[in-house]
Amino acid sequence: MSLTNAPDPAIRAAIVKQDLDNVMHPIVQHRALEKSQMVLVGAQGSTVRDADGTEYIDGMAGLWCVNIGYGRTELAQVAHDQMLKLSYFPHTAMNEPAAKLGEQLNTLMGGGYHSYFVNSGSEANEAGFKIARQYHKHESPGSYRYKVLSRHYAYHGTTMATLAAGGMGDRKAKFEPTDGNFLHIAAPTCYRCPFKLSYPSCELACVTNMETTVQAEGPDSIGEIIIEPIMSSVGIAVPPDEYLPAVEKICRDYGILLHIDEVINGFGRTGKMFAHQHYNVSPDIVAVAKGITSGYMPMAATIVKNNVFNSFLGEVSEGRNVMQVNTWGGHAAAAAVAVRNIEIQLEENLAERAGEMGKYFMDGLRTLFRHGTVGDVRGKGLLIGVELVTDRVTKKQLGNAEMVSVVDFCRKNGVIVGRAGGGKQYSNTITLCPPLVITRAECDRIVETLDRALGAIGK
Ligand SMILES: Cc1ncc(COP(=O)(O)O)c(C=O)c1O
Repeated sequence: MSLTNAPDPAIRAAIVKQDLDNVMHPIVQHRALEKSQMVLVGAQGSTVRDADGTEYIDGMAGLWCVNIGYGRTELAQVAHDQMLKLSYFPHTAMNEPAAKLGEQLNTLMGGGYHSYFVNSGSEANEAGFKIARQYHKHESPGSYRYKVLSRHYAYHGTTMATLAAGGMGDRKAKFEPTDGNFLHIAAPTCYRCPFKLSYPSCELACVTNMETTVQAEGPDSIGEIIIEPIMSSVGIAVPPDEYLPAVEKICRDYGILLHIDEVINGFGRTGKMFAHQHYNVSPDIVAVAKGITSGYMPMAATIVKNNVFNSFLGEVSEGRNVMQVNTWGGHAAAAAVAVRNIEIQLEENLAERAGEMGKYFMDGLRTLFRHGTVGDVRGKGLLIGVELVTDRVTKKQLGNAEMVSVVDFCRKNGVIVGRAGGGKQYSNTITLCPPLVITRAECDRIVETLDRALGAIGK
């Protein structure tokens, strides 16, 4: 289906009925879905099209993932060709596309890594926790390190362990109790510093808080620290440049593994292939998903540094092998699509483009400061947050009804924007994470639509 196809109201109505009668959707309230009724049928570049013919600029690249943009027919061809050869075989054996993808990821990481393939960002983080536990069992059997340090308001996935690793109370509440071995410390959310300090005079109080927690808990009990370099769930938080190196130092000083979550940040989103590469750190475990296929196939990976990987080598009788298997891991057709997707990102210099376009976009968004409701505009590359407040001095969050109005106004005017999920503290932030192929004209259109949306709520 292409963007030129004519709308067909009867087909659309039939799909809506079929869906509402039979499907249970994630996170969205069905009563709201009954009203909004988006039925997507086509997409191209940064634009998606509803079956009623309405087109939207997708300011969120789907769920933060369609990095190379929609409508790349060559990826359909790649999947087709690979399926005709070998669609799938368990990854206890080898296949050509997954081997290629492993090499590609290792090269992008600068060498010295192996990839364990899974199907989603949640699984990639979950496998990371398990690999860290197993590593510590192998390497220091006397002092078992099992706790994971994470940050308040973080999001790392939807499984029970990744949920427990997350720091959003309202996402967890319905499922508690969760595993208690995930500890949370202050995040580098500088616009709303948890210590009410300002950078640089804060001297990175959040890192001091992290080290104090490590010492208080007992360093020998901490297996890893999980960090999303540019935190998305809080409406995008870009930490001070020294933050990640300081976290890495704590890891090295106390024998803790550094687990980096690149599920959103990865594959060019922030202006480099991986966001941790802005900060010159060398993580032990890296979770990737989303942009690894730009949404053309489900695929994800836990990329493991060789010091950790080597701990899994030994005689069969030693039982050091990865003690888990997942049916679709290393899926040949998905891996082939991932390989070509990454080649496209490299051929089209999309990471560099994200850096440049992000600056252009943020300059445009900063013109919105003419509205008293815009408290902060922040981001890196094409990962951007616009935090809305009732008062710039007190920073009181804009209320839910007005936030809904802003998002709905944009939608009604053909622009999809997101809203941070990090709980009540951060849901007053508009998030923007468009395909990395977005044009200047499309960025202008998003800015202009937000401008009108903020005008419409009278602020
Ligand atoms: C930072 C981060 N980690 C992990 C995940 C989980 O990925 P998935 O939804 O593919 O399981 C997400 C999903 O949005 C995410 O934003």
